[in-house]
Formats: sequence, structure tokens, C-alpha cells
Amino acid sequence: MLNYLKNDKEIFDVLKLEIERQQYNLELIASENFVSMAVLAAAGSVLTNKYAEGYPGKRYYGGCEFVDIAEDLARDRLKQLFSCEYANVQPHSGSQANMSVFMALLQPGDTFLGLSLDHGGHLTHGSLVNFSGKVYRSVGYTLNKDTQLLDYDLIESLALKEKPKMIIAGATAYSREWDYKIFREIADQVGAFLMVDIAHPSGLIAKGLLDNPLPYADVVCSTTHKTLRGPRGGVIMIGKDSENKMGIMAPKGERPKLMSEIFDGIVMPGIQGGPLMHIIMAKAVAFKEALQDSFKTYAEQIIKNARTLANKLITYDFNICSGGTDNHLMLIDLTNKNISGKKAERVLGEAGMTVNKNQVPFDTKSPFVTSGIRIGVPAVTTRGMKESEMEIIADFINRAIKNADDEQALLQIKNEIKEFCSKFSLYPELITN
Ligand SMILES: Cc1ncc(COP(=O)(O)O)c(C=O)c1O
Repeated sequence: MLNYLKNDKEIFDVLKLEIERQQYNLELIASENFVSMAVLAAAGSVLTNKYAEGYPGKRYYGGCEFVDIAEDLARDRLKQLFSCEYANVQPHSGSQANMSVFMALLQPGDTFLGLSLDHGGHLTHGSLVNFSGKVYRSVGYTLNKDTQLLDYDLIESLALKEKPKMIIAGATAYSREWDYKIFREIADQVGAFLMVDIAHPSGLIAKGLLDNPLPYADVVCSTTHKTLRGPRGGVIMIGKDSENKMGIMAPKGERPKLMSEIFDGIVMPGIQGGPLMHIIMAKAVAFKEALQDSFKTYAEQIIKNARTLANKLITYDFNICSGGTDNHLMLIDLTNKNISGKKAERVLGEAGMTVNKNQVPFDTKSPFVTSGIRIGVPAVTTRGMKESEMEIIADFINRAIKNADDEQALLQIKNEIKEFCSKFSLYPELITN
């Protein structure tokens, strides 16, 4: 691949350096992963050249007969993965999938509930700097102060008080399982829509290792590039399609629109134009990979690895928020280690480990400083690392945090990590071609 960039020295260097960075560092960002060469090939294919506004069989452009097949395959495979009746694979990102749901179900100014950003929610769940908090009235629920777990009584009382039109379940930094049945019951009590955002754990849910929200939610959104290990993008799903629930009257003589038709119309032409057909084909490739039994083994290994890493870090007196992890990530409160999340992110980076600073529940530090870091294992698990490697990684983390001000010690760890990573080859084809 590098060969094709020979005549553009600056960009050639960028790609080469990034390939090497991915190869020789420990990628511990919870939302990242390494796609297969097949997904890369599809994402880098000639389908990038094609305009295909519309949906298979109903396009605004000619020449779509082959990209139609790719999009149909992506939709069918996604439906099979999550046992749902409707799938839209066109959102360019998780945020755009979420925006489509807001546009479909709410009017500007309507109230909705979402997990607060500083308790693990996503920007699109009501942050005031995001469309979700600017256009709509967002009310954030928090975790329980003592357990750092979801507090269903608190969510229920907030719902009864605020009478939201929509409740969002799902998070970007919460390591525990969600009880979607209780969310459904709370939503039903106040007549709210239930949207579930499984951007993070979708790969684990697809293989039955965590609860599937589709039987409970009105709509489920996900990204495709985290535990699902596909190209960067978003999807929208409905478990059971039905007539629209927004009270929109059908014009006389016409049948009411189905929810699926409403969502399709919001994604395109509502908020997007031409779909990224190369990415949609890459999604189809990734979904086929995720349908294989080998992906279940991968997903199971993610959970084993996350537990092993968390347990080992606990032996080094690291404080894992919410008491542990059920999924692929953990949030670490570094207050007892006397280091901020910002500094820990830098120090771990210098030692060859990529993580992100993250606020912890009831954090007293700003989002730019934070008291914690978030760590995830999907990417290192893709490289073939297992429990014994997680213990070694916990050791690297502990040593780096202990030696936060010792540049020599950090350099020594970086060199050890480079050696360690070279045993788990990544994209060898890209380095040699
Ligand atoms: C829960 C959740 N929803 C939505 C998104 C948005 O995805 P994207 O970055 O593709 O817009 C993320 C991304 O981190 C996320 O964690």
C-alpha cells in the first residue's frame, strides 16, 4: 500500500510512521481496534468513486447495480448478527446515527434523559457543547455515589419528574452490564421512547456475551469500529418494525409510514447525502467476520482479558471504578496514585501505551485534566494477546505510573514494549509493500 504513495513523500512518511506506531505501541484505547486486511481492502476500494444517494433499488443515480448488492449484504448480515428486522448501514459515524434518532423521534426543545458525560455518557447523549444538548433539553442521570453503578431508582424518579420524550441507555465509559428491561419499564411509565446506544459493546452483544437490547428498545444505534471491529461508521437498528409511533397522521388514502421508513428518510435525505459505499462494503465484510464462530472466541477473549487486566491492576492498588468490568473496558480512578488522568495519559504514552484521560464519577477535576483514565482491550486482543499478556501489561502500567517523573525508566519500558509487541505482528503486508 505504501508503494502507491511513493510520489508524495510527506504523506508516505505519515502513513509509514502511523503503521509503525500501531505496530510497536500497546493500543489500549477502549474505542479502537485493528480491522482485518479484508476490511481494509474494501474500505480502500473503488467503491469510494460511486455516488449512490438513496437506498438499494431506489437510487437517485445510475450505475448502482453493484453497490446495491454490497448494501443489501451489509443490511442482511447486520440483521442476522443482532436478530432484528430493520437495519440502516448508511450513517457515516456513531454520532450521525444518534442524530438521526433525535431528528426522527424528538422536536427541538423536547426533554430527554441520558447518562451524564462525566459519569460515562457520550457527547451525543446531551452534552451542552453538542447538538443533543443545544437543540434539545437534556437531563443527565448519574451513577450511584457509593457503588458507581447505574441507579435504576434514581433514573425512575428522574423520569417521573421530568417526563422525558426519550430515554437513552448506553455509554462510552461504563464497564458494567445494563438492564434494558428495567429501562423499558421506566420508559413505558412515562410514555418515552427508549433508545439504546451500543457503540462500545456491540461486538460482545452480537455474540450473546452481553444482553441484547433490541427486544426492549424502540431503536438501537451503534458504531461499527469498536468491539465490532469494522470500518469507522454507524448503524441504526429496530428489533421489530411497526407503524410509526410519532402520531403522524398518514394523508387520506395512504397507509401510515413504518418506523423503518421514517428512519431511512431521516438518514437520507434528512441529515446525509451520498453514502460512503466503500465503507458500507467494508461494513458488510466486517459483519460477515463477526458472524463466524471465531469472532465469538475473540469476543470471549476480550472479556477474559479485561477481567484479568482489571484484577491484576487491583493487586497493584489501582482503583477500578464500579468495582470491576463485565465488558471490554475499565475506568481507573487515579486519585490514590497522586497523578491526574492528563498526566497519566502522557506518561503512559511516553512508555509506549496509548490510553485516554477520562473523568470518573463525581470527578472534581475538569474534563481536560480528569482524575482517571479509560483502558480497553479489544485492540490488543485482536493482536492475539491473552491473559498472560494482560498480566504483563498491568505490570507495564504500574511501573510507568510509579516512575511518572523518570524519563529514563519510561524509555526503558517503551523499549520493552516495542520488543513485546514485535511478537504479535500487525499488518506485516503493509510494511513490506
Ligand atoms: C456511546 C457512543 N456513542 C456514539 C459514539 C460516536 O461515535 P463516532 O465517534 O463514530 O461519531 C461514541 C464514540 O465514542 C460512543 O462511545
